[in-house]
Amino acid sequence: MKNIAGYSKLSKEEKIDWLVANYLNNDLEAKSELISYWHRDLNTQKVLDEFSENTITNYFFPYSIAPNFLINGDYYCLPMAIEESSVVAAMSNAAKFWSTRGGFKTEILGTTKIGQVHFIYKGDEAQLKADFQIIKAQLLEGSKYISFNMEQRGGGVKDIELIDMTQYEDGYFQLKASFDTCDSMGANFINTCLEEYASTLKEIVGKNPKYGTVKVILAIVSNYTPDCLARATVECKVEELGSFGDISAEEFAEKVRIAVKIAEVDPHRATTHNKGIYNGVDAMIIATGNDFRAVEACGHTYAARNGRYGSLTHCTVENGIFKFWIDLPLAVGTVGGLTQLHPLVKRSLQILGDPNAEQLMMFCAVAGLAQNFAALKAMTTVGIQQGHMKMHLLNILNHYNATEEEKEYALVYFKDKIVSFTTTRVMLEQFRSAKKEVK
Ligand code: MEV
Repeated sequence: MKNIAGYSKLSKEEKIDWLVANYLNNDLEAKSELISYWHRDLNTQKVLDEFSENTITNYFFPYSIAPNFLINGDYYCLPMAIEESSVVAAMSNAAKFWSTRGGFKTEILGTTKIGQVHFIYKGDEAQLKADFQIIKAQLLEGSKYISFNMEQRGGGVKDIELIDMTQYEDGYFQLKASFDTCDSMGANFINTCLEEYASTLKEIVGKNPKYGTVKVILAIVSNYTPDCLARATVECKVEELGSFGDISAEEFAEKVRIAVKIAEVDPHRATTHNKGIYNGVDAMIIATGNDFRAVEACGHTYAARNGRYGSLTHCTVENGIFKFWIDLPLAVGTVGGLTQLHPLVKRSLQILGDPNAEQLMMFCAVAGLAQNFAALKAMTTVGIQQGHMKMHLLNILNHYNATEEEKEYALVYFKDKIVSFTTTRVMLEQFRSAKKEVK
């Protein structure tokens, strides 16, 4: 395989040509396929191209709507960008289920974001600690010009602490700063503040002989934001849950409670359980132009905050009440980043009623809770495969190049049968040979 210097300097067409010539067997169909995914409006395409580097085309993903979410007394449609077929159906199912049982209730438990300057200090540590309040005032003063606008919007820097980490590495200290970034996710603002703190710190310490030396190792936002937290809850009387085939409401409530308990104590199960939660959360995070890697990384750390990785949702069945809730750390924004640039992100936010960051946090927490409830409901009653494979049927049919007529037939045929690649292939073979015979 070939390598190339200066790929980023080529035009988009040249980039495609080089790729096709060297990695796609000079296949002109591959070239026109790549080009066929360009947006027809060249201005929009340019905006999309400029989100990234070395862009050659767009990668398509389904964009779906999960309707009928009753949240704090109002109905919402949740926009979702996800490729897993059963996820949106599961969301809609949970939305419908809870809409007749009081809906979802949400609250914000905190909005604090964190950034750190990690540095090595060689000198009188007691002096550094003793003077930290004076140093902190200088750090805050030195970064005022950066935080001014954020302060006008009601946010800014909340505090800076000096953390002694010398037990882990000789001379290792941190500045741990907390921020309120209002409706923006805030990573850029936080990183700019942190780099300013780093240079002010070096200056203060470097110029004063009573201190030692500071070597800044790195200054960066922390994606772990346990105090930027949304809670979503559903609850109803156990009997209102209704029965599921031969499973009574009481039995269902108990099974769900134990299923959540299992995820609380067993990391193997917890990982899959939380993965299901992020099926809902990530789909909304992507649809609203937020950073799903940051949100997921944070959630998994939060799930392990007590020393063992466990469930992000919780369930109690007490005094005849079934209660199911999630506490989810979510550092998201509704201004800045892609939010005003990506056409479908703008549309997603409009669909959600142009929420502020706190409202978006609540919608995402609801999506996670709904997704987890739907998965647990399926698994504790009929099993996951019935719904999953029914939803996957269209993918399998497309894999075998099924016609529209074959798809229609298959949807009826599989109503009371188990879907798999083999059963679908056999069904198609039978259908196709029966058709040949008729001809
Ligand atoms: C599949 O994408 C998600 C589930 O595995 C989640 C779970 O097991 O809770 C169904």
